[in-house]
Formats: sequence, C-alpha cells, structure tokens
Amino acid sequence: MATTRDTTGSRRVGDSTPERDVAFRDAICSLMKGRRCVEVAGPTTGHHSGRLRMYCEMLGRGMGLGEDEMAVLRRGAVLHDIGKLGIPASILLKPGALSREERLVMERHTVIGEKLCRPVKSMSAVLPLIRHHHEHYDGTGYPDGLEGASIPLVVRVLQVVDAYDALRSDRPYREAMPADEAVDVLHAETERGKWDPSVMEVAIPIMRRRMPLRRAG
Ligand SMILES: [Fe+2]
Repeated sequence: MATTRDTTGSRRVGDSTPERDVAFRDAICSLMKGRRCVEVAGPTTGHHSGRLRMYCEMLGRGMGLGEDEMAVLRRGAVLHDIGKLGIPASILLKPGALSREERLVMERHTVIGEKLCRPVKSMSAVLPLIRHHHEHYDGTGYPDGLEGASIPLVVRVLQVVDAYDALRSDRPYREAMPADEAVDVLHAETERGKWDPSVMEVAIPIMRRRMPLRRAG
C-alpha cells in the first residue's frame, strides 16, 4: 500500500507500513483473545469463534475451497464479529429484545469491524467476511443488501456455520437445540431464501454426522 502524507508531511493515522501492519494485527488478535473480547461477546459466546473455526474447516473442505480460501475462512471465523468491540455494552449485553434503534446500532458492527481492520494490509482478504457476514442470499440482509453469488462463497460458508452454531448453543432465553432440530430450522430458513441452497446441501449431512453439540460456557 502506498504511503500517503498530509500537507504537513506527517504520516496519517491510517497509513500502512510493514511495522504498523504487524503491530495493528497483533493488537487486534490480542483484543480478540483477551478479556475485553469476552466482556463484549458475553458469557454465552465465549467459545463461539473457536467452534466456528472448527466447523468452517469441515464445511469449507466439503465445499472444495482451496488453501487460500480456507486460510481466509479460518481467519474470518475468528475476526468476523470484531466490530462488536465498538458497540456499547448496554446494547451488546442486553438480555431482552433490542429496540429498532438499538438493533440499528448493533448492525453497525459489520462496518465498524471493516473500518478497524482496513488499515492492516494483511487482512484485506478477510474484510468481505467482516463486512458481509450478515447479508442474506435473497438480498434482505445488511449492511449492503448483497444478493446470491454477489456474496462471496467464503462468506456464504461462514454464514451457515455461524447460524448453525448459534442454534446449537445455549442462550439466556433457550437451551441449545439438538442437531436435527437445528438442521430443520436452517432448512426452513433456506427455503425462505436466507441461506445459499448449494452450501446448505453440503452442510446438512456434515451437520448431522460430524458437528458435535458444544454447550457455550
Ligand atoms: Fe456479526
């Protein structure tokens, strides 16, 4: 990335240098592993990223992704919700339903995450996963309303895994669903246009056979 300078000749805050790139990436990784991440993610999602990484490995291989795409998918599984670091805890940890205004604030985590990671050159391939992991196959998702194959395949794989893991995890308002019940929910959502049917076709037998129930701790 070319270095840009302002009119005083100083580097701008967002400029990328190899040293800054490594420092920024390490800082983000520390945030994701550290206490702040657990605080903002909440007690029910503490192991979410690790499980997603494992499930992405299964489904990504099943979808025939190449090594480069698998590397991006693994990284996205850990980092896709990093923008939640910028969401107020009063909204992020609210036990009840969010108001419309609160939901709009929560949805900002996609663009906040992309903005946070954009200065890091080595994360450029992961940015679509961070920005677009809440798009829907029928175009009803956010932040950009992308539709069908305009949502990158690695994102469509992460979405299915993310949705499956959410259903299979305990929540304050319900217990974790058995595998068959979670698959039924995802199948119905696919029928309604939410998820990519070609990804779901590969995912369903994998979910039924190989993805174990992990109670969130
Ligand atoms: Fe998210």
